[in-house]
Amino acid sequence: MLRLGVLGSGRGSNLGAILRAVKERPIPAEVAVVISDVPDAAILDIARKHGADAVCIVPPAPRGPLGAETEGRIVQALQDRGVELVVLAGYMRIIGPEILAAYPRRIINIHPSLLPSHRGARAWEKALAAGDKVTGCTVHFVDDGVDTGEIIAQREVPVLEGDTPAMLHARIQEAEHKLYPDVVESFARSAKMNFPLNA
Ligand code: GRF
Repeated sequence: MLRLGVLGSGRGSNLGAILRAVKERPIPAEVAVVISDVPDAAILDIARKHGADAVCIVPPAPRGPLGAETEGRIVQALQDRGVELVVLAGYMRIIGPEILAAYPRRIINIHPSLLPSHRGARAWEKALAAGDKVTGCTVHFVDDGVDTGEIIAQREVPVLEGDTPAMLHARIQEAEHKLYPDVVESFARSAKMNFPLNA
């Protein structure tokens, strides 16, 4: 069983998709803990509803770097539960050096564009503004940049005539809910966790 630690700040729809896939497929993995920086984030309720450990670790500064002390607490919470793979699911903070050092090539993120296009926030709006005909989502390893780490897998999503930002974002999220569980499953089934995967 691959032990997962999921970090998120918001709705938690990707966590929900992963939890469903773990149970239904099933995937040889377990969500050992869900950690949020936002006390009332829905992702914590989803974790509790599924019986997963839900932990809130609020950084001292509302924005910007987590800081060494907070990162240390996050690493401790992950290690206490034997987490092997850290899964970022809408975590709106930059992962800093302490967490990166504790989990080298063991932290993944999902981003709502076909990286390297449209890094950073609200990527679907950037795809619309650029007039892209195809966008999508990407799962990548996390490094010390913003959405710059090595790409693991991608899934394409068409941009349709008359799309609003909300419509496009919803279509991308549907794709995320397929791609992220697929990647987690590949990690769980791969002993070494250094596989190439193309969805
Ligand atoms: C996703 O769209 C993901 O691409 C981005 O944050 C969002 C999280 O959504 N990194 P949710 O909290 O999983 O619903």
